Amino acid sequence: MTSNEFRIAVLISGRGSNMRALLDARREGRLAGNIVLVGSNRRGAAGLAVAEAEGIPTASLDAAAYTDRAAYDRALFERVAAARPDLVVLAGFMRILDPAVVAAWEGRMINIHPSLLPKYPGLHTHERALAAGDALHGASVHYVTAELDGGPVIAQAELAVRAGDTPASLAERLLPREHRLLVACVDAIARGHVRLRDGRVEHDAKPLAAPLQLASDSRLHER
Ligand code: GRF
Repeated sequence: MTSNEFRIAVLISGRGSNMRALLDARREGRLAGNIVLVGSNRRGAAGLAVAEAEGIPTASLDAAAYTDRAAYDRALFERVAAARPDLVVLAGFMRILDPAVVAAWEGRMINIHPSLLPKYPGLHTHERALAAGDALHGASVHYVTAELDGGPVIAQAELAVRAGDTPASLAERLLPREHRLLVACVDAIARGHVRLRDGRVEHDAKPLAAPLQLASDSRLHER
């Protein structure tokens, strides 16, 4: 498959700045593959309008119409599957997915999380890093597995915590690095440099002993 045929679906829940970073990278020739769908669990997600303005097909599903979580997730992923993606990117997607859906997409679904996993899975990561007095914070892109924010980590972007940082200032300084990290990871997967095999991330066919690191040149480097 040429990288141009690589099909990417993105799921968001809100502003979608990470999704926008992928769209911008694609438009500027910095991302291999095509974004074929932007989906959301929130009809009003601002990122949907951004995608529509770029002519990207969108799909949103209101959870209120479904009696149980698994039924909702199945319905949402029926729409995702209809776009025939090679990769699903959870980008600011704030919903814990049903294990059966996750299993069906294992190895083909990634998530960006604003912490240096395995530290701080779940919510309020900036608050927790500050409360712990961490000198280093950051973001991780990982394959999605049934364990919340627990899947094999592909790459990380580090950020030095500054005296006086608040959760808001930390989030603000981290976001641009998240964008560069996500673009680098999706591009690496689209070009066949990164994949999941037997539960381990492989980089150029070699199992990774540690997550790749995002460098200042926006490239991914082995530790
Ligand atoms: C980002 O910090 C992302 O890491 C987290 O949700 C936040 C909002 O993302 N999962 P976005 O602006 O909607 O992409």
